Amino acid sequence: MVAIEDYLGREQAYVKHVFLELYLERLVHKTASRFDHIVYVDGFAGPWLSANEDFLDTSFGIALNALRKAKATWKAAGRDVRMSAYLVEKDKNAYERLNGIGHRFPDILVKTYPQDFLNALPTILTDIPTTAFTFFFVDPKGWRFRLHDLATMLKRSHSEVVFNFMFDFINRAASMKEPTIEQGVDELIPFGDWRAKLEDAEQRGPSSEDRKRILVDAFGESLATIGAYTYVAETTVLRPVSDRALYCLCYATRHSEGIKTFRDCQIKVLEEEAKTRATTKIKRAEAVSGQREIFESLHDMAPNDLERKLELARTAAEAAFLELVPRDPALIRFDEVWPHVLSRHILRLKDINEIAARLRKEGKLIFLDWEARKRVPDGYYRMQRS
Ligand SMILES: C[S@@+](CC[C@H](N)C(=O)[O-])C[C@H]1O[C@@H](n2cnc3c(N)ncnc32)[C@H](O)[C@@H]1O
Repeated sequence: MVAIEDYLGREQAYVKHVFLELYLERLVHKTASRFDHIVYVDGFAGPWLSANEDFLDTSFGIALNALRKAKATWKAAGRDVRMSAYLVEKDKNAYERLNGIGHRFPDILVKTYPQDFLNALPTILTDIPTTAFTFFFVDPKGWRFRLHDLATMLKRSHSEVVFNFMFDFINRAASMKEPTIEQGVDELIPFGDWRAKLEDAEQRGPSSEDRKRILVDAFGESLATIGAYTYVAETTVLRPVSDRALYCLCYATRHSEGIKTFRDCQIKVLEEEAKTRATTKIKRAEAVSGQREIFESLHDMAPNDLERKLELARTAAEAAFLELVPRDPALIRFDEVWPHVLSRHILRLKDINEIAARLRKEGKLIFLDWEARKRVPDGYYRMQRS
């Protein structure tokens, strides 16, 4: 299990890895019920600043454990699922540590590539059987990347992707007027009309949250357009102590179940991040002043930013949900709407269920198929605005 003790001074990586661990464990377990072969591809595997000798603080270590766990669970239930991991690392020293990891996971096929990810990708894509389900993790150290170079990977069916979008760097690069940098950002975010939107926002003096929304939405649109993904979402990782966004884990899937699981995991991660940041802030302040109790009580008095953020998300989601439901006499199924709301707002399916039940009680929504004694809607229930 991922442990904060391994991440001293790089608590942001802890948050990223808590997300990966939670999400991959659920994803692999779920998809292995339907697919006979699950593949994890890590294009920038590392190890990178790893402190744990079993690589439990690296993306590939976390993924291999998730694959192993799901394999064992299904095996105990009488189902044999093949699990593979393709790990790419360009740096010679890092690769030396990566190479050989397979010996520790004899139940999983592990292939490593001492190469540039884009060079290794065609071979990897040919090696993955078409019937396998694949999760791609793209976690480059920098931000320069031609997204179109990933087109074949992004278009692969039975796949999902998480791309680490280095927001802090990209945000700065997006304002620079140097032609090579401008070209770089255009290649990374080829769709979404973000330059015009940023310029427009500039007239109003945008907050950093506005800029993030514009850039990250455009990047999500680029992933969705190139890869023909139905749902994209992101979770932001903040700097360990300041309130600035450092990077955004951008996620793309074609399945409603995927977006549901993503949000469930994200909310847990945000809670963990809030706790970690509070502790890190106290520790760093304590290191400077030596006055532990004062800082702890200061933290107790601070308003709960996360609660406020989630409350705002629920309110926005309710408005978006209502807007997606057509007026009488048109109808739409509940499960045609909730995945789109989840892909835009940070809340759980359970929250939308409750919103739907309340809107029905308030007479704002009509559900044609609502059965007696049901407290929340089923996916097939047809609904309309009254
Ligand atoms: C941010 S670190 C990866 C961290 C890892 N994904 C994790 O979460 O534990 C990026 C890694 O990618 C490697 N790298 C950089 N450029 C690469 C490329 N073009 N192809 C493959 N690996 C690359 C770096 O050497 C570094 O180890």
